[in-house]
Amino acid sequence: MSDTLTKLTYQTFQQGKNYFGLTHKMLSVRLMNIISPSERQTKPIPNEVLLKLQQKLNHLLEVDWEDAERGVYPKSLLFDNPWEDFFRYYPILWLDLPQVWDRIKHKRYQEFSPDIETFGYPSYYVQNFHHQTDGYLSDLSANLYDLQVEILFGGSADPMRRRILALLKETLHAPSLHPRQIRVLDVACGTGRTLKFIRAALPQASLYGTDLSPAYLRKANELLSQIPGELPQLLQANAEELPYLDNYFHAVTSVFLFHELPGAVRQHVIDECFRVTKPGGTLIICDSIQMSDFPEMALIMENFYKTYHEPYYQHYTTDNLVERLENAGFENIDIQVHFMSKYFIARKPG
Ligand SMILES: C[S@@+](CC[C@H](N)C(=O)[O-])C[C@H]1O[C@@H](n2cnc3c(N)ncnc32)[C@H](O)[C@@H]1O
Repeated sequence: MSDTLTKLTYQTFQQGKNYFGLTHKMLSVRLMNIISPSERQTKPIPNEVLLKLQQKLNHLLEVDWEDAERGVYPKSLLFDNPWEDFFRYYPILWLDLPQVWDRIKHKRYQEFSPDIETFGYPSYYVQNFHHQTDGYLSDLSANLYDLQVEILFGGSADPMRRRILALLKETLHAPSLHPRQIRVLDVACGTGRTLKFIRAALPQASLYGTDLSPAYLRKANELLSQIPGELPQLLQANAEELPYLDNYFHAVTSVFLFHELPGAVRQHVIDECFRVTKPGGTLIICDSIQMSDFPEMALIMENFYKTYHEPYYQHYTTDNLVERLENAGFENIDIQVHFMSKYFIARKPG
């Protein structure tokens, strides 16, 4: 296929996902208002903000395409979509919605099925984040998670995750370092999508992933074990106490974790990331934009934590993560922003 045609196909594919996400959200809100109406807390977004958002999305897709074109990762990654999961779990997502609406209506944010063991997890974690049934603690939740995130971001979650790949490759570009010697850890790897992308960009590196959720790690293992080559090593662990040696990883990444942590815990996790990163190594954090990045997007950020159960998001949006990174010992901290995501690239002194 010619490059122009591939690009057009990619743009059309992404546009399709965007429309799908919008339609799903519109239909589910209408249905919720009929079946289980709850107090409306969000405010409508002005058209000029929506237009700006669309421009930022287009820009994200453009840089995603450009990185694939210059070989940072294979173009096939642009079309990576868990179709089997989509057909299998999309109907279940709808079937799950009535109990989600009921929890929203009655403001129940810490409800788990009786067979779920919540003992031993930090209290900040035992939550129905995004009103998800069983929080992060069941296979049902793990099976629905990627679909829910795709719908939330209109298909742009993976392009946002892929923004870390060029940064990662740049930091690991030392002639003395053989690709097989590279060790990369993804903290709070969830269902493994970021590790899948890192594997495609760094086929020979040793990859490691940790998460608190056994169900999400099981799902990640299912995804990653389909890829030929070395299997990333997955471990269940609290990011506040990473089970690795000091100075072990050339790079550490973390995607969409920090907005789900209380402020003090954010600092503990950053301190741990610093400890396990090699001197001269890099930590790359990808998370939501913050208020200071786009004050005009304030309403979208406010609507987000009001609509989805995100108890620490409001604090996150004004938290000074640069200061936290510096407190831990990181230096030369760069920041990038793409669409709704912000990237902190922090170096451990060599
Ligand atoms: C929003 S999800 C992001 C998952 C994945 N990184 C992604 O890109 O989709 C947040 C993840 O962080 C994990 N998590 C939350 N708090 C954690 C902690 N203290 N230690 C380890 N994992 C944690 C959850 O289990 C969940 O998988």
